[in-house]
Amino acid sequence: MSDFILAPSILSADFARLGDELEALAKGGAAYVHLDVMDGRFVPNISFGVPVIASLKQEAKRRGIDIVFDVHLMIHDHECYVKDFVHAGGDVVTFHYETCKDDADVLRTVDLIRRRGAKAGLAINPSTSVDALVKFADKIDMALIMSVNPGFGGQGFIESALDKARTLRKHAPTLDIQMDGGINLSNYKTVIEAGANVVVVGSAIFKHDDVESETKKYISFI
Ligand code: DX5
Ligand code: ZN
Repeated sequence: MSDFILAPSILSADFARLGDELEALAKGGAAYVHLDVMDGRFVPNISFGVPVIASLKQEAKRRGIDIVFDVHLMIHDHECYVKDFVHAGGDVVTFHYETCKDDADVLRTVDLIRRRGAKAGLAINPSTSVDALVKFADKIDMALIMSVNPGFGGQGFIESALDKARTLRKHAPTLDIQMDGGINLSNYKTVIEAGANVVVVGSAIFKHDDVESETKKYISFI
């Protein structure tokens, strides 16, 4: 099984203090920072885009913060934008299966991301069958199983995501499998036992004042 990775989402962070929030996550032991990009079309919300990620990457360098930028694109027209997100500092760039025209579009986008030097992830919504990820498992660097309908932090966990992780893990023993949405200390262990090894936690960390010590709780849980 692949190594375990905690990927806190800054969607629920204080956007006026992103440098400090990032530093707290890194000090708490997070290997990834999860960056939720929303276009107001694929999902009914707008978050942030290329300039914010580029600035945060520069700030991470200035502060000597060593953390992987894990960009989750919830946008249409991903082909137009993936190169910009890699250029801005995305180390892993994940796009949604639902936004792809066909299988060739998936493969083209994976290739586009990899040729720019990043890892490519493929995401599915709760209503999409896990077959989509099984089909592309040996052609991607990470699979993302959404455990909420994308668009907002702080939603309830959708249990059917667990079965998807079990199925995918059987087919892909070493693939990085990410789960995202509604994860907190009470369901975290179940998520990992189901087969996910890259776990996104957003509001459950950032609703606490002490982000560093909250992050540590997830690291020491393993
Ligand atoms: C939802 C985002 C998630 C979200 C997770 O559209 O993709 O990454 O920020 O937040 P929580 O953990 O609060 O569900
Ligand atoms: Zn996300």
